[in-house]
Amino acid sequence: MADRFIFNETSYFGWGARDVLPKEIDKRKLKKALLVTDETLIKAGITKKVTDVLDKSKVLYEVFSEVKPNPTIDNVKKGLKMCTKHHCDYLIAVGGGSVMDTAKAIGIVINNPEFKDISTLVGTADTKNRSLPIIALPTTAGTAAEVTINYVITDPKEVVKLVCVDSNDIPILAIVDSELMTGMPASLAAATGMDALTHAMECYITKGHTLMSDMFALKAMELIYNNLEKSITKDRDALDKMALAQYIAGMGFSNAGLGIVHSMAHQLGALYDTPHGVANALLLPYILEYNGQVCASRFKDMAIAIGLNVDNLKDEEIVSVVVKAIRDLALRLDIPQHIKDIGGKEEDIPVLAKKALEDPCTGGNPRETTLKDFEQLFKKAF
Ligand SMILES: NC(=O)c1ccc[n+]([C@@H]2O[C@H](COP(=O)([O-])OP(=O)(O)OC[C@H]3O[C@@H](n4cnc5c(N)ncnc54)[C@H](O)[C@@H]3O)[C@@H](O)[C@H]2O)c1
Ligand SMILES: [Fe+2]
Repeated sequence: MADRFIFNETSYFGWGARDVLPKEIDKRKLKKALLVTDETLIKAGITKKVTDVLDKSKVLYEVFSEVKPNPTIDNVKKGLKMCTKHHCDYLIAVGGGSVMDTAKAIGIVINNPEFKDISTLVGTADTKNRSLPIIALPTTAGTAAEVTINYVITDPKEVVKLVCVDSNDIPILAIVDSELMTGMPASLAAATGMDALTHAMECYITKGHTLMSDMFALKAMELIYNNLEKSITKDRDALDKMALAQYIAGMGFSNAGLGIVHSMAHQLGALYDTPHGVANALLLPYILEYNGQVCASRFKDMAIAIGLNVDNLKDEEIVSVVVKAIRDLALRLDIPQHIKDIGGKEEDIPVLAKKALEDPCTGGNPRETTLKDFEQLFKKAF
């Protein structure tokens, strides 16, 4: 069977890269954008860094900013209404994963209106048409939603995150401008960076990994492990490397898959509104330990990639060294290591476990995970 890889048509990287926007919009003959962003980014002056470039070249756009972290079906529906009302023919997403994912859902439903209820998009929906063109400018160094074929929307009624996988949603253009990430508070940079590290590590051991996805995963791990902490102290070179590394991780996991760190993190996000990166950083050491029992030989490459000395150690010992390094990193970043510390309740374990089992990321995990396993893993992480 052939291995399929999907990336953006074009991507730009580097400080101030957003300056290419007018030229790229003009080249594609796009007329009027729905600029999707959120209120925090508007208040922080980050959205303005992009609209200033658009205004200078008289690019037409309408701003839609009703997107909350862990965005909901309702956020998407409001954006859809605005997109239709203003006859927008493309989307510009300026924000983190929440904004980019909302833009993807809007773009998909505008061109595939039979999915207007949103919830039927879960998994691999059979959409017939490409999304409206999306130009994505990430403001966090984490999700890589600008280069992935996934988006995640919360259904508050069912208390579940709908993980949608659809090659029709990939942004045509990704502009990874590290200057847009400078305003991140330390806690946000830490959490989103740990999300990117989780993408790289889950991608390296997922069932669907290939030689090509391995290449992306290992390089991303190396860059993230060595630059995340420095990037938080506003070291510009480290931030540039984090911006690139999270994108490289996305090139890998979008095409190869993830595993049960994400299946479980999605449930913490849906039930407790836990920031996605915090949920991943909390769960990652527990799940590496669990998965290490079936794919210990893969851990040596990961250890070497992040610069650990594992000479003369047995595979099982290497798993322990990697787990400790990742847990220590999360602790240095002040990320809680227990679900009870993020407001979780033990009586929720049965429902968390049931929904994690049903999550689309579960199938990619290197170790078969039963309902009982999920219950035990959640218990351990409490
Ligand atoms: N599509 C994918 O492939 C993919 C991958 C991983 C995660 N996700 C999803 O992405 C969402 C998480 O996205 P995220 O972690 O990027 O965070 P986010 O988009 O939810 O943003 C979190 C908060 O940080 C603020 N913020 C963002 N950038 C900022 C900046 N530069 N300065 C100051 N504040 C800033 C936002 O306004 C928001 O209030 C989750 O819903 C998750 O499930 C999607
Ligand atoms: Fe993630």
